[in-house]
Amino acid sequence: MNSVEASGLTVKLNGFEVLRDVNLSLNHPSFTAIIGPNGAGKTTLLKTILGLLKPQSGSIRVMGLDPTKEPKKVRSMVGYVPQRDRVSFFVPMRAKDVIAMSRLVWKRPPRWATKRDEAAVKKVVSMVGIEEIADRRFDELSGGQQQKVLIARAIVSEPSMLLLDEPFNGVDVRSQSEIMSLLMSLREKGVSILMVTHDVSDVIHIIDNLVLLHRTVVAAGKPEDVLKEEILKRVYGDRIGVYSHEPCIMFVPRDSHG
Ligand SMILES: Nc1ncnc2c1ncn2[C@@H]1O[C@H](COP(=O)(O)OP(=O)(O)OP(=O)(O)O)[C@@H](O)[C@H]1O
Ligand SMILES: [Mg+2]
Repeated sequence: MNSVEASGLTVKLNGFEVLRDVNLSLNHPSFTAIIGPNGAGKTTLLKTILGLLKPQSGSIRVMGLDPTKEPKKVRSMVGYVPQRDRVSFFVPMRAKDVIAMSRLVWKRPPRWATKRDEAAVKKVVSMVGIEEIADRRFDELSGGQQQKVLIARAIVSEPSMLLLDEPFNGVDVRSQSEIMSLLMSLREKGVSILMVTHDVSDVIHIIDNLVLLHRTVVAAGKPEDVLKEEILKRVYGDRIGVYSHEPCIMFVPRDSHG
């Protein structure tokens, strides 16, 4: 089974065609990064995978399910870490309650937390290393701390797949490497990971697939097959270069390379 199978997918928002003829096939489990310029439709694609947006045409299957027909089922199987700078969070709740909510939302009211829910929250709090902030109010945390809480919230329901939209925004280097190790261990446990990022150099050695998106899938496959100068030029113009110094590949704007 594939984690995502999209064919001829077109998504219009307010009459504007954001995604056109998207074809994508991702194995399960796999670790995939999506890159592409601002406005390329990356967030739109994640929301379509989750069933939050409906495509105008084409077909999509997520873990074998159709998110346009069974959005709740898909959302219960797929964890989502939204792009933090696009969502305003006024959440007068403690961080650990924000995390717990993601389990309780699937229950019937009055949605009491059971011992099992509490144990699951405790486990992810320790996995993500946020013991010290778990009792603090979510909207009083720093950006990077909020990001970690959002990651904990996305994995507490033990999803089969995890979507992350620029999860390293505002996260310091140490936390970033801790989060990376966490994602790699989830991947080893059989969770599919789909992550939007602007900095592919951080993930290049651990991802199975790389997708270059610019309204449509410009290229997808092994990272080394996508990170080719002639392909990147089509999307980013002449301002991007690929510098390969084995075993490290750097993907940098030309301006900063002299
Ligand atoms: N609700 C909406 N109505 C109309 N246009 C929208 C809507 N949401 C997004 N768009 C447009 O769709 C395009 C793609 O947006 P999207 O947020 O998916 O891009 P992105 O690749 O995630 O960009 P970024 O790297 O800046 O996060 C943009 O041109 C955006 O203005
Ligand atoms: Mg986005």
